[in-house]
Order: sequence, then C-alpha cells, then structure tokens
Amino acid sequence: MAFAFLLFSFIFLQPMSVVAQIAGNISFGASIHATENSSPWISPSGDFAFGFRQLDNDKDLFLVAIWYNKIPDKTIVWYANGDKPVPSGSKLELFYDTGLVVNGPQGELLWKAKTSNTTFVAYGFMNDTGNFVLLNENLLVVWESFKNPTDTMLPTQILEINGVLSSRHRENNFSRGRFQFRLREDGNAVLTPMDLLSDNTYDPYYITSTGDAINSTNSGYQVIFDESGYFYVLSRNNTKFYLTPKGNVPAANSYHRATLNFDGVFTLSYHPKDFTANQSWTVIKTIPDNICRSIYGEIGSGACGYNNICTLKNDSRPSCKCPPKYSLLDPNDEYGSCKPDFILGCQADGQWSQEDLYDIEELPNTDWPTSDYELSQPFTEQQCRESCLKDCLCAISIFRAGDKCWKKKLPLSNGRTDNIFYGLKAFVKVGRGDQLNPPPLLPNKNSQEKSQNKLIILLAVLLTSLVIVSWLGFIFIYRNKRTIVPRDSDVETNLRCFTYRELQEATNGFKLELGRGAFGVVYKGTITLGSSVQVAVKKLNNIAQDGEREFRTEVNVIGQTHHKNLVRLLGFCEEGTQRLLVYEFLSNGTLANLLFGEFKPSWNERLQIAFGIARGLLYLHEECSTQIIHCDIKPQNILLDEYYNARISDFGLAKLLSLDQSQTSTAIRGTKGYVAPEWFRNLPVTVKVDVYSFGVLLLEIICCRRSVDMDALGSEKIILNYWAYDCYQQGTLDAIVENDVEALDDRGKLERFLMVAIWCIQEDPSLRPTMKKVTQMLEGVLQVPVPPCPTPYNLTN
Ligand SMILES: *[C@@H]1O[C@H](CO)[C@@H](O)[C@H](O)[C@H]1NC(C)=O
Ligand SMILES: *[C@@H]1O[C@H](CO)[C@@H](O)[C@H](O)[C@H]1NC(C)=O
Ligand SMILES: *[C@@H]1O[C@H](CO)[C@@H](O)[C@H](O)[C@H]1NC(C)=O
Ligand SMILES: *[C@@H]1O[C@H](CO)[C@@H](O)[C@H](O)[C@H]1NC(C)=O
Ligand SMILES: *[C@@H]1O[C@H](CO)[C@@H](O)[C@H](O)[C@H]1NC(C)=O
Ligand SMILES: *[C@@H]1O[C@H](CO)[C@@H](O)[C@H](O)[C@H]1NC(C)=O
Ligand SMILES: *[C@@H]1O[C@H](CO)[C@@H](O)[C@H](O)[C@H]1NC(C)=O
Ligand SMILES: *[C@@H]1O[C@H](CO)[C@@H](O)[C@H](O)[C@H]1NC(C)=O
Repeated sequence: MAFAFLLFSFIFLQPMSVVAQIAGNISFGASIHATENSSPWISPSGDFAFGFRQLDNDKDLFLVAIWYNKIPDKTIVWYANGDKPVPSGSKLELFYDTGLVVNGPQGELLWKAKTSNTTFVAYGFMNDTGNFVLLNENLLVVWESFKNPTDTMLPTQILEINGVLSSRHRENNFSRGRFQFRLREDGNAVLTPMDLLSDNTYDPYYITSTGDAINSTNSGYQVIFDESGYFYVLSRNNTKFYLTPKGNVPAANSYHRATLNFDGVFTLSYHPKDFTANQSWTVIKTIPDNICRSIYGEIGSGACGYNNICTLKNDSRPSCKCPPKYSLLDPNDEYGSCKPDFILGCQADGQWSQEDLYDIEELPNTDWPTSDYELSQPFTEQQCRESCLKDCLCAISIFRAGDKCWKKKLPLSNGRTDNIFYGLKAFVKVGRGDQLNPPPLLPNKNSQEKSQNKLIILLAVLLTSLVIVSWLGFIFIYRNKRTIVPRDSDVETNLRCFTYRELQEATNGFKLELGRGAFGVVYKGTITLGSSVQVAVKKLNNIAQDGEREFRTEVNVIGQTHHKNLVRLLGFCEEGTQRLLVYEFLSNGTLANLLFGEFKPSWNERLQIAFGIARGLLYLHEECSTQIIHCDIKPQNILLDEYYNARISDFGLAKLLSLDQSQTSTAIRGTKGYVAPEWFRNLPVTVKVDVYSFGVLLLEIICCRRSVDMDALGSEKIILNYWAYDCYQQGTLDAIVENDVEALDDRGKLERFLMVAIWCIQEDPSLRPTMKKVTQMLEGVLQVPVPPCPTPYNLTN
C-alpha cells in the first residue's frame, strides 16, 4: 500500500508541482524560504533549478544557487552569495519594484540582483539553458545569471572583454577563491592566481594567445560556449580558437559545463542526461596540463599554499602535502599553507648551536623554485646539507646539478614534487626531538625567565613578521606605482627631419651600400650634427601606400627608445613617396659576420653579446613607452659597436611592413630559421615570437654556427634546434660546442644558457618565458627549470 502511494506520488505529484510553477515563469510576489526542503523554481524541461541550497558543512547556512536538477549530484553551476551564505529562515522573493532580493529572518536585505533602480521586474524565468533571467513588462531582460557568472559557464553563455570566472575557495566553500579566468582587454583569455585582498592578479599560468599588445582587429573579444559544447575564443575577425579538443565532444543528450575549479584547474566536462546510466561527469579537457608546474610566478604561493608541496594526480588535479614536521595552518584545508611545527629562526642565544636544535630531512624530487636567497657553487652535497643546517636563516636547501646549492627562506612558494626534478635533493631543516616541545632554549634558568624568553621570542617573531609584511607592502606599493606611472607617450623626440636632398648629399648619392634587408637598402653617409657624424641611411622601399600616418607614428615610437643595446635613430626623411631612416653608424658590422666569420669571438664576448641582446629585447617588450615586437630577430639584425656591444637594429619596422601584407593571411614577417611556429599556424603574434627567435639566436651564439647548416657532418646536426636539444638531453655538451675549451671550462653557464635557449624555442608560445625571465635566468638570478622537449605535441587542438 505504502509502495503504491509512493509510486503514485512519484508519477503524479512531481510533474504537477512543476506545472504549478507555470513552466519556469515566476511572477512577482513569488518566494522561497531557506529551509531544508524548500522547493526551487524549475526550468520548463526540469533540467535546472533555482533556489536555496543548504551548505554541506554548515546545515544552518544557505546559498542562493542554480543547479542541475535531474542528475543525482545536483551540481551547482551558479551562486549568488558565496562569500555570505544566508541563515535559515531567510526568504528569496521577487518584487515588482526591487526585483529579486533575499531578506534575512528579521527582514534585513542580504542580497539583491543588481538591476537599475528605475526598471520594474515583471517576471523571472528559469531558462532551460541554466540561465535565470529577470524581465520587465516589455519582455526585455534586465538581469541574468549568465551575465553575472561565478565559477561555471554553460552552453550558450558568452563572456565579454573583462568578463571573469572566479574559483570558489574550496569544493564545499563558495567564498571567492584565488584563481581567475578572465578575457583580458588585449583579447587573451587567461588563467591567473590573484591576491584576494586587493584583486591584484599575478602572471597568467595559462594564456590563449588570442590577442596582442597592439589594439588589433585580430584579437579575441568573446569567450563562447556554444550550444554543441564547444568552448572557444572568438576573434574580431571571426577566427575561433578552440579550447575544446576538436571532434571530442559528445553531441546529443549531454550536459556540458566549463568550470574553474577551486584548485585553479579549468575543466570542460560533460554528463549524460540519462542519469539512470549511473555515470558521473567525464572530463574532456583540463587546463593547464600540469598546474603544479604552470604556476611559477615570483609572487604568490603557487598551486598550493605557502610552504606546501604540490603533486599532480593522474586526473591532472593537484594535491598538496606539507613537508615533514610542517603542518597545515588550517587543519581542514589541505590546499592551504603550512607552518613549521618548531621554531625556525635566529632567536637562540648562543647556548644552543643550530646543530643542537635542528636536523635535516631529505625529500626526493622536490623543489620550491622561487624562494632562493643564496646560491653556492661549486658545493658538495654534504656542504649543501650543512650550510643550511648551520645557517639560522635557512629553511631548506636544494642540491642539484652536481655542484649547485640553493638556500631558501620562508615562506616557501611554488613547492612541488615532480619527476623532472629527478636527482635533485631537498634538505628540509626540521626541529629536533619532540616536535611540539623544542629543546628549551635556556635550560638553566627558572621557569619565570623561561616564559620571559618565550615572550622575547614571540616579540622577535612578531617583529620579523612586521618587517616582512612591510617589506611585502613596499614591494606591492612599488609594483603598483610602477604600473600607475604615466607613460611618456607625448614626450618630444629629438629626431631630426631631413630633406631627401640632404641625405642624397650625406650619402654621396647613395653610393656606399652597407647591406640589404626586408625593408630596403642601407647606405653609409656622413652628416653634420655639430661635428660630422657617420650614419647609416636606410631607404625603405616596402612601405604600404596608405602608410603615411603609420610612418610618423612608428618613427616617433622608435625615436623614443633609448637603450644601450639598441641602435639609435637620429632622424628621418618623408618626402613624396620617399621614406628614409637615419641611424647612428656602428663600426663593427653585424653579429652574423662575427659569429660565422673566420675569427670566432671568445666565449666571454659571446656571453656579453647574448646578455646585451636579451636586455635590448626586454626593453622593447616591457620597458619602453610603447611595446615593440621586433618580429625579425636574427644575427644580421644585431650590430656591434666599437666595444662589441650588441645593438639591436630594425626594431619598430615590422608594423610598417606588415600593413600592406596583412590581407594575405600567409604573410610571414621574419626570416626562415628564426621565425616562431605560430606564424605558420592560426595563432596570433605576440612578444613570444621574439623570444623564440632569440632562442635560436642564443643557440647560434653558444655554438658559433648557423641554425640551419646543410654542410654539417651528420644529418642529425643540420637543424641546430633539434641537435641542441638532443645533446642537452644526452648530456653531450662537448659535442655541441665542438672543443670550445673556454665554453667547456664554464660548464655551468654553458648548461644554463643552453637550457634557457631550449625554453625559448618551445613550440607552445605560452611555455616560452618572457624576456624578463630570460634575462634573469641568463644572469643566474632565477633558477632554470629543466626544459621540456621543444616540439612535444601538436598545438592545434
Ligand atoms: C510569464 O508571465 C508574464 C507575466 O505574468 C506573462 O506576461 C508572460 O507571457 C509569461 N510567459 C510565459 C512564457 O508564460
Ligand atoms: C537606488 O537604490 C538605492 C538603494 O537601493 C538608493 O539608495 C538610491 O537612492 C536609489 N536611487 C534612485 C535614483 O532611486
Ligand atoms: C531561453 O533560452 C533560449 C535559448 O537560448 C532563448 O531563445 C530564449 O529567449 C530564452 N528565454 C528567455 C525568457 O530569456
Ligand atoms: C570559507 O572559507 C573562508 C576563507 O577561508 C572562510 O572565511 C569562511 O568562513 C569559509 N566558509 C565556510 C562556510 O566555511
Ligand atoms: C582599442 O582598445 C581600447 C581599449 O584598450 C578600446 O577602448 C578601443 O575601442 C579599441 N579601439 C579599436 C579601434 O578597436
Ligand atoms: C584572424 O586573426 C587571427 C589571429 O587571431 C589570424 O591568425 C588570422 O589570420 C586572421 N584571419 C583573417 C581572415 O584575417
Ligand atoms: C554506480 O556507480 C558507483 C561508483 O561509480 C557504484 O559504487 C555503484 O554501485 C553503481 N550503482 C549501480 C546501480 O550500478
Ligand atoms: C589514477 O590513479 C588511481 C589510483 O591512484 C587509479 O585507481 C586510477 O585507475 C588512475 N586513473 C588513471 C586514468 O590512470
């Protein structure tokens, strides 16, 4: 009997309750109470529900949310008040004048859908797409959940420029978390960690590369999740950059969702609508591939909290574990930060040596690549272990590459265990003895004094933290200041405008040719600027017809650059169809002549040249008032001044030339052998193309040979990129520099430079470091991670 009743209620009551709600249409006056069994507003098909959800970990708190109503796990796809769940007894109500609001048990306003004051709400509608909308009398949408996304996007939902998905804090805690998916103004969709207190975002750990610094018609402007479950960035020119692997999306009868998970991993997944199949969500795509590796900025804790260690699980999601004798700050939050279970620092008064107080525990394959304060080299493993033990500032030391020892300080960030660290040893300093009772610091004095000392230690710790906090604050302010400082775009340049005739005379009728390039011919000349000065006059012959204004703009941009590793522009000429640029003349020719000529430069000269080029490029990319992508970095475009300083030439011209070629999508700027693979693919061109070319150039500088050498002995040596990686991987550095004794004697730097070069020539532009990182790695300020194979997989999925 009871069974029959149950059956009856199942068959009849359930659909009837849906019918009672007028098929998704919610009239004003409708309300829901925050109680355990409140019935939500359901979409016509019954797929989605809008209403209160009780929190798993606090039964007295409720979330205003939208969820899949038919599948067993009722996955939440949107929530209104993640930061402030409301108490039971609260009431969700739709009013004609104030719209959708949540009032607390005492009638206080707790949440409101932000419509403008002047619009009245005629009714609400839980759409079958999962979008809850509020409409006015004219049936215009005045508010919708799709325009106010939280951590999930659904098919038919679109993210516009500056649209953001924010992760939740933890799987069961809907407070805003510290990861963000954003469509940036420059057209790139990025994943970034952030500082929650200020909303400051850090370096992206994933970027779609669908935009460039230039305000271009090719950059992305919408992130679209289409009806069939494909997720892509749409460019202004209608190109689609898919994040969903092609042909891998089950078409009919599945729910799709794109979620920025609490751990920073972005997943695209589906669930069969037929929930009797006892299936759960299947992940189609995870971004990034390895979050433990991908987050490595100098600021922020990494994928896990501070002092924590990230390990990638086989579902590409991270797990976090504290080092030995460290424990979680919040015992319930394994993804949070860890603290030592002992006192670490320099507070002991000398009665106890560091060796008395501490021990070293060894961790294999684990590193915190960014928390260094000292690098000792050459050093043995034993020295590395002891130097950390004896140094009261040292928390951990890392022994690596046979003779290198990095000492690291708290808090440690970006910690991870990773098999690419194979052979590396982490020495973790831990308190001796019972971890909750470190040896008394002053054993001979009475307990009152002891507690005084504890107080002193506490004060010292507080003081130290204060110093650290204010120091971090300073860095923060300084960083912000740097970005706020107004750019000197209107600064007058000291460029001289020459007449054609003046330049004709200066070059003696364009007589002495110095070289030819993509832009035209360069002639030697002499002009009088006070005294007579030797110049190189570049006659441009490929300028677009309508490029007049562009020419002025570009010349101004070039004229504003000042850097010791760039060739100075002195003036220009713009007469009729003639366009000429006047540069300072550099006496020692091109790097190509030097590198591939008869007398090879010494190892040290080559290192200096590489540093110089890197700094020049860094300046072009990040430090001058208008970002300049060179697009044609090669040894022919690096000139040498009288002191053999490397000076980059031909920068700022790429835009001029590309103007008239942008119609043909196959137009490739740059020179064979040096151009980045994205030129050949449907990928946008960013500063990373220069990083790629720099990588090729760096290999040439290291090896003193051309990147493609058909005469090389042995076919495996023809393409320098491949051969260099092979040599690196097999550890045959001798082969690559061919008996260059100086280079081999400087093995550490040789290896470092080679590793940096391999990072730069990664096919995936997002893996390539910025020039800033490149210079820091070349200088040894940043540890160089082990580079992956430059051509590991096909990018175009
Ligand atoms: C929903 O309700 C509003 C107001 O009662 C009405 O104007 C509208 O036609 C209804 N829409 C549907 C699809 O029933
Ligand atoms: C809009 O609403 C806010 C609070 O709900 C109120 O303070 C403000 O005066 C209203 N503005 C107008 C123009 O009605
Ligand atoms: C519901 O979604 C469908 C499909 O996107 C759309 O055509 C329709 O206009 C939406 N209804 C409302 C009331 O927004
Ligand atoms: C969620 O996490 C935040 C940040 O740690 C915390 O302040 C808040 O109390 C948590 N919320 C719940 C419901 O546990
Ligand atoms: C260029 O970008 C700015 C924002 O940086 C935008 O306001 C402007 O409309 C863009 N111009 C064009 C022509 O796309
Ligand atoms: C559109 O822009 C992309 C870069 O986002 C570019 O690769 C592609 O060639 C452009 N297509 C057309 C037709 O201009
Ligand atoms: C459904 O799957 C779960 C594990 O995914 C399993 O434990 C359970 O027994 C399955 N139920 C049925 C009815 O197959
Ligand atoms: C992931 O690892 C678990 C055990 O840790 C194993 O049961 C599972 O089959 C693995 N999954 C895949 C896809 O390898």
